[in-house]
Amino acid sequence: MIIRSWLFVPGDSERKLSKGEGNAADALILDLEDSVSDDRQDIAREMVRNYLQSRPDRAKQQLWVRVNPLDTDLSLPDLAAVMPGAPDGIVLPKVYSAADVNTMGNYLSALEAREGLKLGSTKIHCVATETAASLLTFHTYLDGVTDRLVAMTWGGEDLAAALGATDNRHPTTGEYDDPYLMAKSLCLSTARAIDIQPVGVVYVDFRDLDSLRTECLRDRRAGFFGKIAIHPAQSEVINEAFTPSDEDIAHAQRVIDVFEQNPGLGTVGLDGKMLDMPHLKQARNVMDMAARIKAKG
Ligand code: COA
Ligand code: MG
Repeated sequence: MIIRSWLFVPGDSERKLSKGEGNAADALILDLEDSVSDDRQDIAREMVRNYLQSRPDRAKQQLWVRVNPLDTDLSLPDLAAVMPGAPDGIVLPKVYSAADVNTMGNYLSALEAREGLKLGSTKIHCVATETAASLLTFHTYLDGVTDRLVAMTWGGEDLAAALGATDNRHPTTGEYDDPYLMAKSLCLSTARAIDIQPVGVVYVDFRDLDSLRTECLRDRRAGFFGKIAIHPAQSEVINEAFTPSDEDIAHAQRVIDVFEQNPGLGTVGLDGKMLDMPHLKQARNVMDMAARIKAKG
């Protein structure tokens, strides 16, 4: 399944959990980390497990869980509590390197065996840039990471704290400062290098849907696919921005057609522009994406 919008839902909120079902988000991320206060951790674990068990059909919307980071003593009890609900995947925050992702993969193997789930069925989406070390260890993903890892996003808030910053944005333009742009670029290039989904960062000003749309289009131009949402109103905007338009599809079809009509040619002209293999690959990606989104219904 293709996931455009990933909506965070605080794991201890009955109201928000019920609102999540029926929301346009392709995936919910049931949160056990930052949106849950320490004294509600046990309640949240139980609510998330019950919610997962109450929704076994994930055809329209996948259910993921964000657990606490591996360097806390909360993460294993989080996992042990939710695995009976067979989440589609785990969102792993505050990683230091690919070693954390592989450790999570091993924990999941053990828990899948305990629950009688198919080995390897639980996927991982890591939040790759929330520690200072993480900016220096992206190469470790290229040295071999579990194929449970299917998506990677970045974050600027925890990273700011980790870097000792008082703010992460330019005071007048509001643009991210250099380290966050580096985090974004490293996340994108690493995800593409290992052929997983690079997911755009959360847009926190959740009332401003116009700016969200602009930011989605900017992410898409850069190569990201999909975005994290924190408010239910954001999901549709994200879905739309990452769905190929009729125009995109028509253009992609023309590109494919012109190559088919010229077998054996590696480069052809269309509307006065040169096209070669990367354009054909891109066009096929657009058609594949459109078909997969249509199949979702
Ligand atoms: N998931 C599901 N439902 C949500 C939701 C979410 N993330 N955010 C808001 N809602 C619901 C609200 O409960 C409300 O429903 P109701 O009218 O039935 O009570 C409705 O959507 C409208 O919400 P609204 O009043 O516009 O927002 P709010 O002030 O209640 O909440 C936030 C604002 C930011 C606190 C809330 O959106 C939220 O909790 N977001 C997720 C935060 C999170 O998980 N952070 C961690 C990752 S960065
Ligand atoms: Mg907490």
